[in-house]
Amino acid sequence: MDENIVWHNYATTKAQRSEQKKHQSAIIWFTGFSGSGKSTVANALEAALNQQGIHTYLLDGDNVRHGLCKDLGFSDADRVENIRRVGETAKLMVDAGLLVLTAFISPFRAERDMVRSLVDDKEFIEVFIDTPLDVCESRDPKGLYKKARAGEIKHFTGIDSSYEIPINPEIILDTSKNTLDQSVVQLITYLKQQHII
Ligand code: PPS
Repeated sequence: MDENIVWHNYATTKAQRSEQKKHQSAIIWFTGFSGSGKSTVANALEAALNQQGIHTYLLDGDNVRHGLCKDLGFSDADRVENIRRVGETAKLMVDAGLLVLTAFISPFRAERDMVRSLVDDKEFIEVFIDTPLDVCESRDPKGLYKKARAGEIKHFTGIDSSYEIPINPEIILDTSKNTLDQSVVQLITYLKQQHII
């Protein structure tokens, strides 16, 4: 960063923005293989939260890659940059007082930890969607595993690109064992226990 760029403090603080809402701001960070259920659970959770009058925003890998990250592919370096941009965006939204949900494979521990370090301790909730790879592959909702196995897609997570499982996630869900409703209830219960909502 240029040494002539100086941080400017806003007249309105994050705490003041938060007071306008009936809930705390935080990042609910979903991570897991393609097809694990990240987007499905995040969408269902967002709908449930909105019914309770909670101001949310969902950042989803496929959608963010249509705009903010449209110049990025799936090399390790591009995935690192993808998560850096998403993390900074989520941080701005937390500053604005929102409950932010993110659904990215986010395969590398260092990048997830980097995003965690951007916000306060209780403001980063890592949700590991621990659906086994063989289940994700059998679902193959977009036909991408088939293409990856055929060598038509390179650097596909779980096939020829790595996924580092979270060591200490706040929540672990396995969508092959729990129903969607059960996952949403587990998440809402956690958010209430933590006094976020
Ligand atoms: S990452 O690793 O966090 O930067 O990936 P993300 O931004 O979440 O994008 C994942 C979605 O992109 C599609 N896709 C691929 N995924 C993994 N590896 C490769 N090579 C790839 N190519 C395309 C895929 O549909 C992912 O969507 P989800 O929702 O995870 O299935």
